[in-house]
Amino acid sequence: MISIIVAASDNNVIGHLNKLPWYLPSDLKRFSKLTTGHTALMGRKTFESIVARLGHPLPNRKNVVITRDKGYKAEGAVVVMSWDEATKATAGEEVFVSGGADIYAMALPYADKLYLTRVHFQSDGDVFLPKIDMSEWKEVSKESHPKDEKNQYDSTFYIYERKK
Ligand SMILES: NC(=O)c1ccc[n+]([C@@H]2O[C@H](COP(=O)([O-])OP(=O)(O)OC[C@H]3O[C@@H](n4cnc5c(N)ncnc54)[C@H](OP(=O)(O)O)[C@@H]3O)[C@@H](O)[C@H]2O)c1
Repeated sequence: MISIIVAASDNNVIGHLNKLPWYLPSDLKRFSKLTTGHTALMGRKTFESIVARLGHPLPNRKNVVITRDKGYKAEGAVVVMSWDEATKATAGEEVFVSGGADIYAMALPYADKLYLTRVHFQSDGDVFLPKIDMSEWKEVSKESHPKDEKNQYDSTFYIYERKK
């Protein structure tokens, strides 16, 4: 099973200066709850951004990193060099595709489920969510999360499944 998991602002920004452009612990918790015990597949820049934030790869999950750099070493992660290699390295697993932009675009045709957090503001950014044809997806869940003392912006957690 392949799922996409992403948070995007209302103007489709997903990243800025190799970081998330917001601080939303509620969404980080959602990410952790959904992906723990499974596999997180990500591009090399996202992996490095996570290691810069946490000091280590995502704990209690298989971290799979895609790079074109043959010599790339990632302590605590499986390194692959293509989508084909990624699918072989994760066969039979529940895979959460965790960004960034090109990895989402690459995975979209194969994904069955889409976990989208909409962060309700117009963000500055340098990385954008690739275009998703929403006519191919049906909304199965929607939860509103108003901003509070910990979470900087209003957000909505959506789950979509691919239409059969
Ligand atoms: N909002 C969210 O949910 C979310 C989620 C994830 C990331 N982000 C943000 O997005 C930004 C990072 O994303 P990004 O799009 O810039 O980078 P990225 O997708 O994380 O990493 C890009 C790198 O992945 C490798 N790669 C890409 N396509 C490949 C392919 N077809 N085959 C082999 N390797 C491939 C290349 O690594 P090499 O250069 O090593 O060859 C490429 O430079 C950060 O700001 C991060 O915080 C946001």
